[in-house]
Amino acid sequence: VRKKQQRKDAFGTLSNAHKGNPNWPGRWREAFADPTLQLWAELGCGKAHFARALALQRPDINLLAIDVKADRLWRGAVEALEEGIHNLRFVQEDIMLAGQMFGPEELDRIWITFPDPYPKASHARRRLTGPYFIEQYKRILRKGGQVHFKTDNVPLFDYTLEVLKELKIEPKDVTYDLHGGAPYPTPEAALHTAYETKFRQQGLTICYLCFAP
Ligand SMILES: C[S@@+](CC[C@H](N)C(=O)[O-])C[C@H]1O[C@@H](n2cnc3c(N)ncnc32)[C@H](O)[C@@H]1O
Repeated sequence: VRKKQQRKDAFGTLSNAHKGNPNWPGRWREAFADPTLQLWAELGCGKAHFARALALQRPDINLLAIDVKADRLWRGAVEALEEGIHNLRFVQEDIMLAGQMFGPEELDRIWITFPDPYPKASHARRRLTGPYFIEQYKRILRKGGQVHFKTDNVPLFDYTLEVLKELKIEPKDVTYDLHGGAPYPTPEAALHTAYETKFRQQGLTICYLCFAP
């Protein structure tokens, strides 16, 4: 417990970290070495295995890795500093505030990777692919900006497809078995999150889709 607290405290001192409720809506690009690049965000990044791989694969974009847990972010942020990754920054924030954290059309792409599924109907509002969130994504994404979504949870995936249908949004690259052998829709889709690696080792298949809200 003490270690966890130390990591939480240490997170805010790192040069690639943003802690607390940042006053940055509309200005996130300025936090990066090259503010002219596209701005992507991963929501619920955990220790940011995927975010680090993505930032390395795509030096032509800037990436914000967001999670509410500072001790997890600390791990990712320290490793990113050690690896000298300059196009990745870490934000401690509650994703429920995603709509307020960003200005209109500020993001070029959003990644939602293995979010908590909130299976209870009474918690449906917290699902990151629910209609409330998709409305927010629409506001903070530029026109044509995409949401990329990965999950092992088939009911959550089916729910998401239903929501998109209701909102008359046509999803792209829908698959219930991303790693089943068909060519990857993009090179980024092949990169693994920590949960993805774990779930695949358990024999689970991975669902993936992308859409422009
Ligand atoms: C199941 S884990 C997946 C982590 C990572 N994306 C992966 O695939 O390995 C879900 C993550 O979402 C974060 N999370 C859950 N609710 C959140 C919220 N309201 N705001 C920010 N992060 C949240 C958790 O702290 C956790 O790290």
